[in-house]
Parts: sequence; structure tokens; C-alpha cells
Amino acid sequence: MNKKPIVAGNWKMNKHPKEGFSFVDEIQDLLLDINHVSVIFAPPFTGLFEMNVNPPFYSAAQNCHWENSGAFTGEISVSMIKDCGANYVIIGHSENRQSGETDKLINLKIKSAIKSNLKVIFCIGETLQQKRKKITKQVLNKQIRFGLNKIKIKNNIILAYEPVWSIGTGVIPKKNELFETINFIKKKINKCKVLYGGSVNPKNIIVLKSIDNIDGFLIGGASQDPNKFIDIIKKTYN
Ligand code: 13P
Repeated sequence: MNKKPIVAGNWKMNKHPKEGFSFVDEIQDLLLDINHVSVIFAPPFTGLFEMNVNPPFYSAAQNCHWENSGAFTGEISVSMIKDCGANYVIIGHSENRQSGETDKLINLKIKSAIKSNLKVIFCIGETLQQKRKKITKQVLNKQIRFGLNKIKIKNNIILAYEPVWSIGTGVIPKKNELFETINFIKKKINKCKVLYGGSVNPKNIIVLKSIDNIDGFLIGGASQDPNKFIDIIKKTYN
């Protein structure tokens, strides 16, 4: 585990703004003296505006459009996200890939974000079918190659390895397999931080944090419950 791990909570389409604000206040109050870990909250767009966070707490959008403005109904630009005070944007989540987001679009989004100095959490991961076919490395390689096509400076990009078969299922990869996959990703992108995401909970965090090369976690379900999220954060740095 990295010396200063990142614990990010992706709320997906959950929490109305007021619930989100009080959730974040509660967590910040209960974890007043933490500085060995960075905590990122990713609310829906409606909850992003004026989210009141101070380091080591940060906020993230869950997606963005690649253009800065224009006729794109329902979309949000990077500058709008920055205007809300967010520091990060999640790009390439498998739930968006499954509804048609391509590597090419992901690449445009990442370029737009880093051009404006918005940090990126770039999600990659194989499906169960791809895992069974033993093509995980080819899949990840393609996602990385196309997603980061023509992007030279990568220091504002954090990778999140989220095997699709692990998201929301309660199943996590075997320790040695996860170590190997994270290593594979790190070899592709020099000095890049890699988070793990998929069914992280207060129990399995003990095993997950013992994997040396993981830099932190991207958490869905368990990040929406204050007790579970705090438990995970504390166990991550203790
Ligand atoms: P779960 O933690 O609910 O499996 O979700 C993971 C995820 O998709 C985070 O982006």
C-alpha cells in the first residue's frame, strides 16, 4: 500500500445534494485529524456545486463532456466541473462504457480534463467473459492504449482498475492476481498511481490493503454509508 493512499467514493446516481452535503460534513468532522490519506467524494453532478471540502478531502465529478460548451443536451463540461470547485473527474467507468462510451470518447474526455488541469480517475477493467477467455491483459492494454492515445504528460492521471465482474457482486480478485494485474498496468504507464475498485468493503479491505502495489481504492456501495466508509478509510491507513 502506498504511503499516502487515496480512498475515493463513487456515489453513482445516489444522494440528493442535501444528503450529500451532510454526509460529507459528517465524515470530515469524524476524521478531523487524518492526513495520511486523501479522500475523494464523487457525488452526482447536482451535488457537486459548492461541495464544502478541504484537503485532505476532495471532490470529483463522475463524468464530463469533451467540448467546453455547445449544443450537447444533458452534458457537463470540464470548466463547469472546475467551477463547482471539483478537483477530479472519473472517466471511463464501466457503467458508461456499457451504455456506449467508446475508447475514443474516453480519450477526448481525458484530453479535455487534463488540458484544464482537472485530475482524472481513468477506469479500466475486463468483463467476466473476457476474464474467462483469459484476455484480461489484452483488454486492459487496449483500454490504456486508446484511452491515453497522444497524451504525453500523464501526471494528472490516476488509473482505477475495476474488473466489471467485481463491481457490486461481493467478489474480489485473488490477491496474487490483483498484484499481478496492478503491476502490469504500472509497467504500461510510468509512475502512475493505480486504485482498485470492485466490492471493496470494511472486511476485505484488510486483505486488499496488504497488496503492496495498490495506491488506494475506488468504492461504490460502501462509500455511501458513513460507518462503512469511515471504517474503510481508517483501516486503509492504520
Ligand atoms: P462497488 O464498490 O459497489 O462494487 O462499486 C465499485 C465501483 O463501480 C466504483 O466506481
